[in-house]
Amino acid sequence: DSPLRDHAAQQGFEIGAALGADHLQNDSQFADLAATEFNASTPENSMKWSVTEPSRGQFDFSQADAYMDFAQANNQKVRGHTLVWHSQLPSWVENGNFSESELLSIMENHIDEVAGRYAGEIAYWDVANEIFLGDGSWRNSVFYETIGPDFVAEALRMAAEADPSAELWLNDYSIDGINAKSDAYYNLIQDLLAQGVPIDGIGLQAHLINGQVPSSLQQNIQRFADLGIDVAITELDVRIQMPASDSELQQQAQDYRAVMDACLAVDGCIGVTVWGIVDKYSWVPDTFEGEGAPLLYNDNYQPKPAYDAVHAALGGQ
Ligand code: G3I
Repeated sequence: DSPLRDHAAQQGFEIGAALGADHLQNDSQFADLAATEFNASTPENSMKWSVTEPSRGQFDFSQADAYMDFAQANNQKVRGHTLVWHSQLPSWVENGNFSESELLSIMENHIDEVAGRYAGEIAYWDVANEIFLGDGSWRNSVFYETIGPDFVAEALRMAAEADPSAELWLNDYSIDGINAKSDAYYNLIQDLLAQGVPIDGIGLQAHLINGQVPSSLQQNIQRFADLGIDVAITELDVRIQMPASDSELQQQAQDYRAVMDACLAVDGCIGVTVWGIVDKYSWVPDTFEGEGAPLLYNDNYQPKPAYDAVHAALGGQ
């Protein structure tokens, strides 16, 4: 049967994957799957601050350019990831002890250079990433501490200047269901809209634990869509305690299906992106000891039950 992207295209839906620079370059089986199965993609690390501006004013777009060439050659919608984030932030920014106005101008220069370089070629930018903590309070990043909560509106305005045609998004984990953290986004986005700040979408990362798809996922997607913005599942993976049994892989397939169905059921939910392609390259085992196998393909590049579930959700056989 046809690849995921063909079925997705028939529904006007985007099925994406995060693409790691090393694998794109050095693993042709990975690159083949990326091209064949997905009509959208996100650079896993290549557009982050530590990669693009490792020291002040010294920009390096070698990885980002290579990623863009691949995405464009394969007709993929691109999600730029990410302009302002507390992590993978070079220490010259984090520990620079800049004044508010200096940090704003550093932010503006970074956004100008990175978003400006690809202006017109990026469908969606994750402008600010992971700005809230689990209880819905602000994360104490250098941006928040130096500039205050307005750093988000400032970053969105700067991104709009740098690339007027990109949709501008916020993005976070653990905001898939209705909870204190997703409430904080809901309130912030209402405020931003009321102030006329450019904000076009919210990304629900959906780094999930097997068997734990939040029951309020669809309702949460719907309430953001009802604000008039777009929604997407931006970094989907479903991690399993290793070794993964057959029944756990079946459970994982059900979880993938539930996420697909929730997004497909809401008009403003434009697509689902998985955070990698083959299990062996996932960030999960490096971060959660003893957990893994979170993606659609196993270590031998064979589709898992989760792949079949996503395929079926998109209308495949
Ligand atoms: O670039 C170096 C390389 O030079 C070195 O040889 C190698 C040795 O380990 O490390 C490489 O850097 C690693 C980088 O991935 C590229 O592989 C970093 O140590 C590692 O920390 C980094 O992890 C990334 C992580 O973000 C960092 O926070 C993951 O690949 C990436 O999947 C993950 O993605 C994030 C999203 O951006 C935001 N949401 C959560 C998601 C998962 O953490």
